[in-house]
Amino acid sequence: MIKPLILTKKINTHNKKIDVDGDKSLSIRWVLLASQATGISKAYNLLMSEDVIAAINSIKKLGIKVKKHKNYCEVFGNGINGFRYKKNLTIDAKNSGTLGRLILGLLVKSSQKVTLIGDSSLSKRDFSRVTMPLGKFGAKFFYKKKNKLPLSILGSKSAKGINYIENKGSAQCKSSVMLASLISTGTTSIKAKKSRNHSELLFKYLKIPIKVKKTKKYDFINIKQPKKIKAFNYQIPGDISSSAFFIVLTTLADNSKLLIKNVNINPSRTGVIKILKKMGAKISFSNTKNYRGERISDIVIKSSNNLRAINCPPEWNSSAIDEFLIIFLVAARAKGVSYFKEISELNQKESPRLIWGSKILNMMGIKTELTKQSIKIYGQPNLEIKKQIIIKNYLKDHRIFMMSTIAALTCGGKWIIHDKNSINTSFPSFLKIINKINNKST
Ligand code: S3P
Repeated sequence: MIKPLILTKKINTHNKKIDVDGDKSLSIRWVLLASQATGISKAYNLLMSEDVIAAINSIKKLGIKVKKHKNYCEVFGNGINGFRYKKNLTIDAKNSGTLGRLILGLLVKSSQKVTLIGDSSLSKRDFSRVTMPLGKFGAKFFYKKKNKLPLSILGSKSAKGINYIENKGSAQCKSSVMLASLISTGTTSIKAKKSRNHSELLFKYLKIPIKVKKTKKYDFINIKQPKKIKAFNYQIPGDISSSAFFIVLTTLADNSKLLIKNVNINPSRTGVIKILKKMGAKISFSNTKNYRGERISDIVIKSSNNLRAINCPPEWNSSAIDEFLIIFLVAARAKGVSYFKEISELNQKESPRLIWGSKILNMMGIKTELTKQSIKIYGQPNLEIKKQIIIKNYLKDHRIFMMSTIAALTCGGKWIIHDKNSINTSFPSFLKIINKINNKST
């Protein structure tokens, strides 16, 4: 068994500049879209984490050539619906809900049954949320256990565009249907509750016929099947979800400053910044530029010793959906009682994060009030943990590991944190960057 991470000291006062790994959502989307393009697409700064490697291995199994180089990755796209289906094919999405759910969209025309499997965490998650809409394209699904992996898909030759209402605010559901629309005849219309819009921006950049009408709560998306997608190169920016751990580390540290270079600050992803700023965090952007519809910026963070509780507006939830664990940690150190509501989706992640976030805060001596869809957190600005805390090994949730690490480095106590390998799914450089920040030299 891999040794746990043992932490007994807080982070040093620091003034550092870091880069974080590439954006996971964009990396997986690039791999999948490049597989449908005609010709060779290249990505620079592609996230080389287990989730993205699983995406590369999946398209390879489906007959697409991929070459990894030192600084870039090439996908030799075989055109729209150009996958080759061998008999008894199994693809493994490992820990990745995004890969598992999105790739099914590209299989709604599969001529052979394809089986999708995943690790113990992914095998506990609900797949009916995508197999229901994908079934409307004509694909058939075979489950061994209700709505859970492993499942098999058999596509339909005559897959046709559908009308679909996405009501959870899930970008995975929306994007799965969007990918299916690429290989299905006619038009697909989606009414989608707000969620990250990387797929829409990539479709626009690739000149796929897409129209998006935005209203306050919903986006209305219309996609016509394209004739062809041209191969495309892409420079993947840093991931705001990975940055969030360091934004909080410096916010809660003493007298420190951090510059994070080149992060994707797409507004559908920056809920964490809005929430933390409202709580009194000192965060600013510089060198902001546009890149193929995405917004990219350097982020500057200064420590703050005057954090206040928040009553978080639910309309911000979807843009902070992967950051709530680390936001809860800030709430634990803020003055007053913070309230986060309508966040039941957190229990649909790599682990039931609403429940586990609350448990970890309780272990730290923070009072919480938990329901199925909300949490109240009673902050303690002067929290100093004196005891030992052990985070066990069975969750397979990278963000639980990283939240626990940041808690240890900012709140004291002795922490024994298992499941170190989980960071390889999304952020392999996490611990190296912590060491860089903790190192006295610049
Ligand atoms: C993602 C969407 C979100 C998020 C996940 C990545 C994506 O999931 O939690 O980490 O890249 O589309 P949901 O769509 O289930 O909210």
